[in-house]
Amino acid sequence: MTGPAEAVSEARLWARLMDMARIGAIPGEGVNRACLTPLDRQARRLLIGWAESIGAAVSVDPAANLWLRRAGSEAEAAPVLTGSHMDTQPNGGRFDGIYGVLAGLEALTALHESGTVTRRPIEVVAWTNEEGGRFAPGCMGSMAWSGCKPLDAFAEVRDPDGVRFADALAEHLAEEADLPRRPLGNKPHAYVEAHIEQGPRLERDGRDIGVVTGIQGSRWFTVTLTGETAHAGTTPLALRRDAVQDMVRAVAALNALMQDPADVLRFTVGRIVVHPNTSNSVADRVAFTIDLRHPDAAVLRDRGDAIAATVAAAVRNTGVAVEENFHALPVAFDPLVIDAVEHAAAAQHVSSLRLPSGAFHDAQFVVPICPTGMIFVPCRNGISHNPAEFSSPAQLASGTRVLADALARLAA
Ligand code: GLV
Ligand code: MN
Ligand code: MN
Repeated sequence: MTGPAEAVSEARLWARLMDMARIGAIPGEGVNRACLTPLDRQARRLLIGWAESIGAAVSVDPAANLWLRRAGSEAEAAPVLTGSHMDTQPNGGRFDGIYGVLAGLEALTALHESGTVTRRPIEVVAWTNEEGGRFAPGCMGSMAWSGCKPLDAFAEVRDPDGVRFADALAEHLAEEADLPRRPLGNKPHAYVEAHIEQGPRLERDGRDIGVVTGIQGSRWFTVTLTGETAHAGTTPLALRRDAVQDMVRAVAALNALMQDPADVLRFTVGRIVVHPNTSNSVADRVAFTIDLRHPDAAVLRDRGDAIAATVAAAVRNTGVAVEENFHALPVAFDPLVIDAVEHAAAAQHVSSLRLPSGAFHDAQFVVPICPTGMIFVPCRNGISHNPAEFSSPAQLASGTRVLADALARLAA
């Protein structure tokens, strides 16, 4: 009899990834599928149909995390959990997130087709709003599930159109009122998330599988500078309180603060909102985001804590407000899952490499709850958060075989 890894179908996995990529497709083979939108719901219904075809039990929790469960021989045993997210960046690719969900479903399908009975149940979760592209920050679903933040803490967050998170969530849950509900939180035996690497190391080193050892820390801030709008043709520069010019000063000072000769620290200003945003008015307000990352919690703390004073010292005459809306501490993964993934890779005769994750993932928030780890597969040129993101059908299937094997080991 074949085992679950042998029953993984590369063709089915690829076809399902391509079916999902059509939901929210954008030019250049990219995807824009924001969380809690009709497109998100369409993708989830497709997933639910596939899950039901193998008899998996579907449920949804108050954060709209979507759960697919395959029973084990011991109904009460703590489940082994896998999954990832289905939302994308606004200019995203076809694999970030959805791969981990569909790899989880493919593993369940392979277990089903190979007639494998596991002692523990196995669950696949699609976490809500991992990307933070519509509602910031990301990882809201996993943070609410793990108790890292109460779900209510996100209620007043607004998307760029002014829609409250609480309203989008309520609308979404009403559309899924036919699905059984489950509460937030539980205690899995272990969590293992499959994902594309989103960096260049596996490809560069010619390895098939990344055995992820942990995730660096991240902090997100929004800096708002408030000046005064004025006529661009008439107002002398000396009389202006120009929020754009002060933003330029602030970002220059922040670049100096964030200097790191070792090139480990990551500092990104990725979103700038200017008001009134016309050519011939001085801007009275600029809000810009900061994404700061480092593997060392002390560096992350010290540089992040210096942001407000650095901006205040750099601006000339605008008011400064700095708000922090995300703080994910660096985490180390658990040897139980690291070893299971490494053994699964060896059993599948694929090469592997231990490496940390530069991207954050929902797994970061599962770490305090149960032994956690991740599986990476290579992606072309390390490109991600970009329509050009690509991993081959063979690479994706190889990661899925390792996932199926690791899940079977952890659930045995
Ligand atoms: C995840 O999308 C990240 O920004 O690391
Ligand atoms: Mn992702
Ligand atoms: Mn992402």
